[in-house]
Amino acid sequence: MSQTVLVTGSSSGFGRAAVHRFLDQGWNVVATLRDPSRWTGAPDGRLLVTALDVRDTASVLAGVAAAVERFGRIDCVVNNAGVGLFAVFEGTPERIIEDVVDTNLYGPMRVIRAVLPHFHRQGGGRIVNVTSSNVTVPSTLMAAYSASKGGLHGFSEAISYELSLRNVEVKVVEPGLSPGTNFVGQTTARFGSSEVPAPYAAYVQERAATFDAPPPPGYFATDDDVAAAIHEAAVDETGRFRWRVGADALDFARARQASDEDYDAWRRSHFAPAR
Ligand SMILES: NC(=O)c1ccc[n+]([C@@H]2O[C@H](COP(=O)([O-])OP(=O)(O)OC[C@H]3O[C@@H](n4cnc5c(N)ncnc54)[C@H](OP(=O)(O)O)[C@@H]3O)[C@@H](O)[C@H]2O)c1
Repeated sequence: MSQTVLVTGSSSGFGRAAVHRFLDQGWNVVATLRDPSRWTGAPDGRLLVTALDVRDTASVLAGVAAAVERFGRIDCVVNNAGVGLFAVFEGTPERIIEDVVDTNLYGPMRVIRAVLPHFHRQGGGRIVNVTSSNVTVPSTLMAAYSASKGGLHGFSEAISYELSLRNVEVKVVEPGLSPGTNFVGQTTARFGSSEVPAPYAAYVQERAATFDAPPPPGYFATDDDVAAAIHEAAVDETGRFRWRVGADALDFARARQASDEDYDAWRRSHFAPAR
């Protein structure tokens, strides 16, 4: 019998690529989007496209119920939906900060709460949470985003122990920068909703320019690389918890493994403003 996966944030990027990856691997797939009319793929008997806004508990419960009604069970949930934020914290309206933390941290918590009763009824299940290399090296001018993804990582690792008692496994997929999705564009658009107080202006300009530099070929992960890691995490039988995707994510991990003194020198050389 085919297994069933529910993916959040399937309209673009990693979520959309993951939907196709799971379909190719023979799964039943519940592709969830805030606005399902935006799904443009071909119909498939193993695919249900349905609404799910991770910021809205009623919508999360309805999306999970629709999945169970159609396929009878959910074997794996992929918490992929997320929003980026590149901004000076002091210049960012509280509602934007709340949007980021609510989407990236409370969103997955809502989905997990909604799906757990079904996992328990079935005797188990699997959760794959998409975090970020910001978890390993929090990036400059991404304080709220780093807080949200760092929170999601800590939550995932901590809850994995209690859920193992109910045969529910938790995994994290930690992509580095992937310029091919809508993420950078959305992040830049959200930057337009914040202000840059004058003392930060030159530094912000300098850091923003790093997004415009052409990526070294093959250095950054593609959406297919991330989708492959998500699928690998969904079928893993080794007990592995974390998948880092992209050469930058691996470089970050190596930098983090240095002594605290060496890591401090490394991160300052990468991010600290010239004074
Ligand atoms: N690309 C990167 O560099 C990168 C690196 C590390 C981690 N990530 C993480 O990877 C995940 C996917 O990002 P991506 O790169 O594929 O970017 P993307 O193309 O912008 O996809 C983000 C997805 O999240 C959805 N979403 C946003 N708010 C939502 C909400 N309230 N409810 C449901 N869905 C919502 C978006 O749907 P709408 O179309 O409705 O907005 C979209 O489908 C995110 O969690 C992101 O933080 C990305």
